[in-house]
Amino acid sequence: MRKLTPELLDRLPHDDPGALRSRRDLRRINRFMGNESWIISVMPKRANHITEIGAGDGQLILKISQLRPDFEITAYDLAPRPAHLPHSVKWIEGDLFSQAPSSHGGTLIANLFLHHFTDAQLETLGKWIRSFQTIIINEPLRARLPMLLGKIAAPFVHPITRHDMRVSIEAGFAPGELAKTLELAKHGYHFREMTDWRGAIRVLASRV
Ligand SMILES: C[S@@+](CC[C@H](N)C(=O)[O-])C[C@H]1O[C@@H](n2cnc3c(N)ncnc32)[C@H](O)[C@@H]1O
Repeated sequence: MRKLTPELLDRLPHDDPGALRSRRDLRRINRFMGNESWIISVMPKRANHITEIGAGDGQLILKISQLRPDFEITAYDLAPRPAHLPHSVKWIEGDLFSQAPSSHGGTLIANLFLHHFTDAQLETLGKWIRSFQTIIINEPLRARLPMLLGKIAAPFVHPITRHDMRVSIEAGFAPGELAKTLELAKHGYHFREMTDWRGAIRVLASRV
């Protein structure tokens, strides 16, 4: 069963020194888990509109904008626009639940974001997510090995990260849960789900 506990990073001001340290840890965790390179490897090759929800400090969206200047890019987060993003990236600050679903379609990316929400919230978000043609999701895998890896990494990360890493895995997903809660098959998506031993569960879905 998923267990939801508030993450400390979400409660801190964006410029809090602990939050800055923890975001730096998150970049290292993303690198170790191979999350961003997997997302980039499965992105559509032709020109596209990319939308990232819960884009954090904008690192992934920055990489995508550098690799694919022909893509239109929109990012959503509670956090203010990161200073390093090019003007071509549209940044929408605020609670995603209060935003109208996108009307432009294209590709949706959610990296380490959906585990923040209850199943009921995810059902609501499902409507939002299903306005996209392609959906790329990378989330924590709720399993013993990722929990053990988190314990091994604990001495090397900031206390905020240590707490958030554990609660993220507890709120993460077991195989089958994400696609079911987001009702992907029911709404005509073909999808593949895969797990990675470094602690990721990944869904790549396309509307037929
Ligand atoms: C664990 S961080 C992941 C950030 C980024 N995807 C990464 O991998 O570095 C989750 C992000 O979701 C954002 N977030 C949480 N709840 C949100 C909401 N209701 N609406 C928009 N963004 C939200 C937080 O501000 C945070 O930046």
